[in-house]
Amino acid sequence: MRNEKFDRNYFEQYYGKQPVHTVNEVAHLATAVHEMLAWWAAPVRSVLEVGAGRGDWGNWYRTFHPRVRVTSTDVSEHACTTFGHDRRDIAQWAPKRPFDLVICTDVMQYLDDRVATRALRNLTTATRTCLYFDALTSFDAKHTVEREATDLNVHLRSATWYRERLSRGFVQAGAGLWVRKGGNIVLHELERHH
Ligand SMILES: C[S@@+](CC[C@H](N)C(=O)[O-])C[C@H]1O[C@@H](n2cnc3c(N)ncnc32)[C@H](O)[C@@H]1O
Repeated sequence: MRNEKFDRNYFEQYYGKQPVHTVNEVAHLATAVHEMLAWWAAPVRSVLEVGAGRGDWGNWYRTFHPRVRVTSTDVSEHACTTFGHDRRDIAQWAPKRPFDLVICTDVMQYLDDRVATRALRNLTTATRTCLYFDALTSFDAKHTVEREATDLNVHLRSATWYRERLSRGFVQAGAGLWVRKGGNIVLHELERHH
């Protein structure tokens, strides 16, 4: 598994004194997503955090919903040793049984087109009910992020590129949420993106 980039220095740079997102900010997002699934009457019994890095989502679930079965994975040896994840490359691995909620944020832009396509297929296989997904796009790199605080040495692609692949297995609900086709959430027409 190649992961030289994601060493101690990388984590100190992006998750040190001035992290891109604080633990508290992620807690707001995790609360919102968990409650959205509750609104959709979709119980969260298992959670998979992919490319977990510091592991904020997994930690939030372990603290606030200790009965939920949490698995966190990362390809980086440093992240796995320091933050306690299973070492998995999402381009080469999918779990045998799907998880109710899968989280994958800021991972896909590190993979080239071919590898990312495989990884998105594995994320689909890994999800029973809902995926929370984000990745830096070419638009984001130009318009939405603080460029000095963001790692721009990545594979930038359009949102359409991601939508085409994720739409094979999901309906986009918006705000990062992708509802698995054939799962137990039924969205009203205006709750979803076309
Ligand atoms: C920018 S960090 C994001 C960490 C966390 N998801 C977050 O949003 O804060 C990118 C993470 O993706 C992990 N990663 C990169 N390629 C991966 C792969 N193929 N499989 C699993 N994890 C990967 C890196 O080791 C790193 O921890």
